[in-house]
Amino acid sequence: MTPIKYKSNNLYIEGLSVEKLADDNQTPFYCYSEKYIEDQYQALKSAFDMEAKIFYSMKANSNLSILKLLLNKGSGIDVVSGGEIERALNAGATGKDIIYAGVGKTDEELTYAIKTKIHCINVESQSELTRINDICEKLNTKQNISLRVNPDVDAKTHVKITTGKAENKFGIEFDYIKSMYAIASELPNVNIIGISVHIGSQITNLKPFKKAFQIIYDLINDLRGLGHKIKHVDLGGGLGVTYSDDDNLPTFKEYASLIQSIFGNLNIEVYVEPGRLLVANSGLLVTRVIDIKTTSQKTFVIVDAAMNDFIRPTLYNSYHEILPVKNNLGTSNKLYDIVGPICETGDYFAKNRNMNSVQVGSLIAIKSVGAYGSVLSSNYNSRPQIAEIIVQNDKYEVIRERVEVRDIIARERIANWL
Ligand code: LLP
Repeated sequence: MTPIKYKSNNLYIEGLSVEKLADDNQTPFYCYSEKYIEDQYQALKSAFDMEAKIFYSMKANSNLSILKLLLNKGSGIDVVSGGEIERALNAGATGKDIIYAGVGKTDEELTYAIKTKIHCINVESQSELTRINDICEKLNTKQNISLRVNPDVDAKTHVKITTGKAENKFGIEFDYIKSMYAIASELPNVNIIGISVHIGSQITNLKPFKKAFQIIYDLINDLRGLGHKIKHVDLGGGLGVTYSDDDNLPTFKEYASLIQSIFGNLNIEVYVEPGRLLVANSGLLVTRVIDIKTTSQKTFVIVDAAMNDFIRPTLYNSYHEILPVKNNLGTSNKLYDIVGPICETGDYFAKNRNMNSVQVGSLIAIKSVGAYGSVLSSNYNSRPQIAEIIVQNDKYEVIRERVEVRDIIARERIANWL
């Protein structure tokens, strides 16, 4: 259920008016519904009739509060860097809650992961495997690992978020996977416990999942036949979310049933690593109209958020619904280009968008920004890092303070010789 609704033409997130949030907090800012995230977690968990462990893929939104609320629900965390391990621990995770994927893990990061005694490292190359073994030997310990397979399956999603084709940098090439398991089984300081796969993100049809999962199913049987202990299968994340009313996505139940139908009789633990699914539709980016500029061809609504705050539309050509916070100016026959102030033509949130009327000073809300929103932001054009807010019914708390430009500048130095 969406937590974002109009009540008498005023936009609400849960029980809190967005206008009230903007009265108290400088725009632009992100705000997230706590209940939505909890409900998504619960809905996914209960879609499975079998035991399936959820490891939230924190790259989607790594704010400590988001991590904490999911940890409280019993979620594990999927990380991709030493920094994400540090964040997860700061949010209250322990090593056993964490699995670590990622195509380039430095020795420093691996050492940190191993010392943290994380549950599993998903290994992506032979050299990584050897490095893990060597680090463990020095530390006189053993590390649980799985190998990430590249199944060469096209996820039929945006090219920049496709990860399971042979040409992609991710995972171990299918033809080498059995020999890699053989090599791993000879290494004294690694302990093979599973297998992992992740074919891409914002996948809107179950077919690519089915194809990949069947390949993995056969592989597990073969590997077990060869004597390897495969206790879990980590199926990655990637199930898409609804960005517009026209989107038609598989339900959690359909996704879970597919997984069950393939792995249900294997006597294996199933892990999933959803990111977007749990958080995307929890959030709004709230921004204020600075100016409206009409040219012979266009009406540009220029807002105080920009591509540095939210880059998905220009990076992935993604669609995000945009709503006036006060829906009191009636319909408009104009097609708006909603753009930010940054000096790049790619700085836009929507093009040729039909939206109810807004004027200079109006607040507008960009929807479905809870995943891959704030985490992808930058300080381009010397813009501040904007605040993040969590909403629980009619109360809220700032969960990341705005970082002002003066604080960003304070970390810079003019070289002595200048
Ligand atoms: N597991 C692994 C190994 C991943 O690489 C990813 C995402 C996930 C899980 C979570 O995928 P999700 O359930 O969120 O689809 N910035 C892009 C998405 C990048 C996804 C990267 N990997 C976007 O805004 O669409």
